[in-house]
Amino acid sequence: MRDVLGTPWSSTANKALILGSGELGKEVAIELQRLGVEVVAVDRYDRAPAMHVAHRRYVIDMLDYDQVVDVVRREHPDVIIPEVEAINLQALQDLEREGYFVVPNAKAVGITMNRIELRKFAAETVGVPTTKYAFAHNEEEAAEACEKVGFPCLIKPEMSSSGHGHTLATNKEEAMNGFKEAIAHARGKSQRVIVEEYVDVATELTALTYRHDTGSGIETVPLTPVEHQRPKGIYFYYESWHPTKQPEDVVKKSQEIAKRVVDALGGLGIFGVEILITSDGRVLFSEVSPRPHDTGLVTLVTMEQSEFAIHARAVMGLPVPKPRLLSPGAARVILAEEPLEAPCLEGVGKALMIPGLQIRWFGKPRSYVNRRMGMLLAIGEDVDEALRKVREAAKYVKVKRCVKG
Ligand SMILES: Nc1ncnc2c1ncn2[C@@H]1O[C@H](COP(=O)(O)OP(=O)(O)OP(=O)(O)O)[C@@H](O)[C@H]1O
Ligand SMILES: [Mg+2]
Repeated sequence: MRDVLGTPWSSTANKALILGSGELGKEVAIELQRLGVEVVAVDRYDRAPAMHVAHRRYVIDMLDYDQVVDVVRREHPDVIIPEVEAINLQALQDLEREGYFVVPNAKAVGITMNRIELRKFAAETVGVPTTKYAFAHNEEEAAEACEKVGFPCLIKPEMSSSGHGHTLATNKEEAMNGFKEAIAHARGKSQRVIVEEYVDVATELTALTYRHDTGSGIETVPLTPVEHQRPKGIYFYYESWHPTKQPEDVVKKSQEIAKRVVDALGGLGIFGVEILITSDGRVLFSEVSPRPHDTGLVTLVTMEQSEFAIHARAVMGLPVPKPRLLSPGAARVILAEEPLEAPCLEGVGKALMIPGLQIRWFGKPRSYVNRRMGMLLAIGEDVDEALRKVREAAKYVKVKRCVKG
């Protein structure tokens, strides 16, 4: 457990290097800044959100081994915080071997970025319930795998993010095409896919769970899950709310699954364990992010310490006694509708007149269709009131070509 904080821009600085400088990285950076940590933000494009609140920034190809190793050797951080999946894994493994602390650890980063590794780990090593699954190396195997798990089946690349390359197949021919689609959209040179039973999802939970150093050992702490629902076939979520409306037994099962997976992954920091609740009442592990989760942005308004504050503290080796839920709350994404350079957000004044409403405008340098540019957050008497507030605010705000007010 850490007991001392240093001074940034000095020889005593505690230095954190964030690989991936999006909106989640930005909130982590802000929390690190509050602890006087020297923050270095890295991404593949300049002026990314976390760079706005960092001491220094680098623009590199994070999938390139040499570029990742070079920036780490140059900065010599105490902590390397991966904030996205698309990072060169070999570089992280070698840096960890050299003595660098990779959050939560390089093995966990490797397992969680790879759907096949993660499914084997969760279903076979840890033994938590998941959808039926099979792996395939070619079109014929994909069709056989679908027959095995049952049609319709969902075919996903071994590595990709945000639903890229997912295909729902209802027959053999679609399964064979789904294989090609997955390979075409995969990150890296993978030739393997996972084929999953397609379940009827009633709702989805993010069982946020963190590991921290208490001074007498590492403790794993499950939090009350965040809930969200998404229209079928949509790769992004619109709204999440906290706490979940699911009954106690569903919450318990989700937390148990999350704790087992997170304990097995190890390390320090927060994890977002994605749980599918099916219409016939099954509670299934889906995947896990070894970092703050998108849907957990709502914790910025609902908890004593947000998922970002917990992460920042835990990865710095500081203790995090379980934070309390302060208020029910909801979050809604602000998406762009068109590609724009230096866009503006209109309607902010009207939206902020709603009591309990907050806005996060990430400051991304450009937009494209459906890019997440900001967030509406609200607290309320209950989750439904908070949801009504963010929905009302959503009617006012719009990402527009900039006319500065
Ligand atoms: N086997 C399944 N059956 C039914 N729906 C599924 C299944 N697997 C995934 N989904 C739906 O698709 C969404 C995205 O799946 P998944 O989390 O595996 O992909 P992802 O690329 O990591 O996307 P994201 O970045 O949105 O989490 C899930 O949140 C869920 O709504
Ligand atoms: Mg997911």
